[in-house]
Amino acid sequence: MTFGDSFEDIELSPYKWVTHMDKLEAIARGEDISPVTVELDLVSYCNHNCGWCVDPKHMNHSLERIFVSQLLDELKELGIEGIVFKGGGEGTLHQSYAEILEETRGLGFEVGIVTNGSKLLELYDQITRNASYVRISIDGPTPESHQSIHRSNDFDNIVAGIKEIIQLRECLGQRHPIVGLSFAMDYSLIDFIGEAIKLGNNLGANYVFFRPPFFEEVGRQNTITVDQKRELLAAFERGKKDYNGKMKVFIDYWISDSEAEYFSSRGDSPRRGKYMQKGANGIEHITGRCLASPLLAVVAADRNVYPCCNLRFIEEWSIGKLDYGSGDTFERLWHGEKRKKIIDRIYRIECIGFCTHPMSKYNEVIEYLKTPRHHRGFV
Ligand SMILES: C[S@@+](CC[C@H](N)C(=O)[O-])C[C@H]1O[C@@H](n2cnc3c(N)ncnc32)[C@H](O)[C@@H]1O
Repeated sequence: MTFGDSFEDIELSPYKWVTHMDKLEAIARGEDISPVTVELDLVSYCNHNCGWCVDPKHMNHSLERIFVSQLLDELKELGIEGIVFKGGGEGTLHQSYAEILEETRGLGFEVGIVTNGSKLLELYDQITRNASYVRISIDGPTPESHQSIHRSNDFDNIVAGIKEIIQLRECLGQRHPIVGLSFAMDYSLIDFIGEAIKLGNNLGANYVFFRPPFFEEVGRQNTITVDQKRELLAAFERGKKDYNGKMKVFIDYWISDSEAEYFSSRGDSPRRGKYMQKGANGIEHITGRCLASPLLAVVAADRNVYPCCNLRFIEEWSIGKLDYGSGDTFERLWHGEKRKKIIDRIYRIECIGFCTHPMSKYNEVIEYLKTPRHHRGFV
């Protein structure tokens, strides 16, 4: 992507990291920082049941309303800029979801939402007025294909909700929320890629995002072969190439460890292969470290704080449990002994087995900032 073609949808620009130079420079100097973004899981349950869900441990936690306010106030004080309501379950099921959105935006945070879309018809007004982006995990672009993944029967309802958001956004003359549809598609849906692009385009979405689901990284048995995955990626690319509209089409080229092994057992290194060159897999595999982790934190619906979205609900990676009654604030946990030990393990990528490389681009910049920056004098 060039700057020219990303200028319109500047929110999707590959240069967004420039906005965080101060934090990236600080990390490169070896300093600790407070996060830019906090993911806040309002609940740990879901009304859909995707076979390969990254949150396999659905439970029955729901954050208390008063706790959410205390936390948001503290995060504001600490200078956190964005709150993302995304994982751990389906956040829109929280009984005070609309109110919490308004409070979060009212405090001046940017608000991001990732949702299965099942509550959009009820919540579209508050979402459109308060969110900077909303990404709908729709995965199947027809009622049947959607049901085969989500095991729910609400495709038409979800699509109707997305239409309301886009229509209201237009009515209000707003640029936000940026609306994206994500498709984690396994091989069974390879023939639905054109349909998926058509759906996004017809709805007026800003982007569609394709990826084969993660399996081993989220503790699941892989159900597609390496060759099937390559076929899928090639089909995503064909879909993208055949599309001439103005919506963006993104593809995630992630290569799992088992694929990497498969390629190296054939003497065919994925690093040199077609997909690797397109930016798959992170610099972390080369440097053996992840320094960018402090840019993000996750507060799970049981009030445990995790340093990365891929580690939520894995007990050994919790930096502690928030409890305002006993003084265990976010700040105290963030600067506590437990986090120091955990962040050292993250710097050494002891968590690589769970990694899908959300911080990879930031790590590349930090690694560069740590060099002597030879040839600075030349443009
Ligand atoms: C686990 S969901 C939680 C948030 C919300 N319930 C939703 O459906 O968007 C967060 C995102 O992870 C994606 N996801 C879940 N499991 C995945 C997997 N195994 N591989 C790739 N993406 C996955 C979903 O499609 C969704 O976009």
